[in-house]
Amino acid sequence: MIKTTSQVDLSKRFERVNVEIFNNSILASKAVAKEIASLITEKKNAGKHCVLGLATGSSPKYIYAELVRMHKEEGLSFANVYSFNLDEYYPMAPDSLQSYVRFMKENLFDHVDIPRENWMVPDGTLAPDKINQFCESYEQRINDLGGIDFQLVGIGGNGHIGFNEPGSRVDSKTRLIALDHVTRAAASRDFSGLINTPKKAITLGVSQIMAAKRVVLIAWGEGKVEIIRKAVEEPVSEQVPASYLQNHPNCSFYIDESAAAQLTRIKTPWLVETVEWDKKLIKKAVTSLAL
Ligand code: F6R
Repeated sequence: MIKTTSQVDLSKRFERVNVEIFNNSILASKAVAKEIASLITEKKNAGKHCVLGLATGSSPKYIYAELVRMHKEEGLSFANVYSFNLDEYYPMAPDSLQSYVRFMKENLFDHVDIPRENWMVPDGTLAPDKINQFCESYEQRINDLGGIDFQLVGIGGNGHIGFNEPGSRVDSKTRLIALDHVTRAAASRDFSGLINTPKKAITLGVSQIMAAKRVVLIAWGEGKVEIIRKAVEEPVSEQVPASYLQNHPNCSFYIDESAAAQLTRIKTPWLVETVEWDKKLIKKAVTSLAL
C-alpha cells in the first residue's frame, strides 16, 4: 500500500530502512526475542517448522538469554526449529574458546530443546578442497527447508553483515572469505592479539540473507554510531554491505539510543520536522553549528 503524505512518519524521512530506536539494548533484545518466540509458536501451531538464521558476537547475547528464559519459564519450545548460523572462523575447531559452535551451544542450544540434528554452524574444520561443496550444501539445506524465516544479523564497524566484508556483492553466495583488517582487529581481543586471529572465515552470502523472509539487524553502543548512520542514511554501497538491507522488503534495524546518535532525526531534529525550541534543543543546535 502506498502511504499518503499524512501517513508518512516525517521524522524518518532521511532513513532508507525501517529503524526502531530503543532506550537501551535490553529493551531492544527483549523485543527481538519476543518476535522470534511468536514466530516459532505461530509456526508450531500451524504444524510447520521455523527456520532461523542466527548471529554470534556480543550483540545477540541478551536475546539468547531471553529466549532461554522463555523456554525455562514460559514453555517456549524449539522442537520445530531449524537454525543456521551466519558464519564461523576458518580454520576453527568447534570446541575452541572462540568457536561460534561453542558460542551457540553455551548461549542457546545447550539450554533449549532444539534437536541436535536441526542446528548447523559453518564447519571450520574442513579441508580446503571441501569448502566449496560444504557451502553449496549449506545453502541447499536452507533452500530445501523453504528458506530462512527470520534472520538475525549484527553489524561490523566496517558495515559487514555475517562476514560479508566491504566489497561483497549483493549476489554473493556462501563462501570462504578473507577477513578485513577492521574485523580482525575487533576480534583480536578474543584471540589474545592480531597475530593469533584467523585471517579467514566461512560466511553465509549476502544473497541468502536478502532472501530471508524477515531480517532484523541489531546494533548497540557508540562504537556502531557512524556505521549505522551510513547504512541507514547513505545510498546502498558495496563498501557498506549492511546498506543492501535498504532493499529488503521486510527488514528492521533495532538499535539503542547510543547507536542512533548520529541519525539526522536525533542529531539535528530541526532539519527533519518542526520542533519545539526548548533550552535543551537550542543548546544542541548551537553546539552542532559550532562543531
Ligand atoms: C557474527 C557476525 C558478525 C557480527 C558483527 C558484530 O556471527 O556475523 O557480523 O554480528 O561483527 O559483532 P558484535 O555483535 O560483537 O559487535
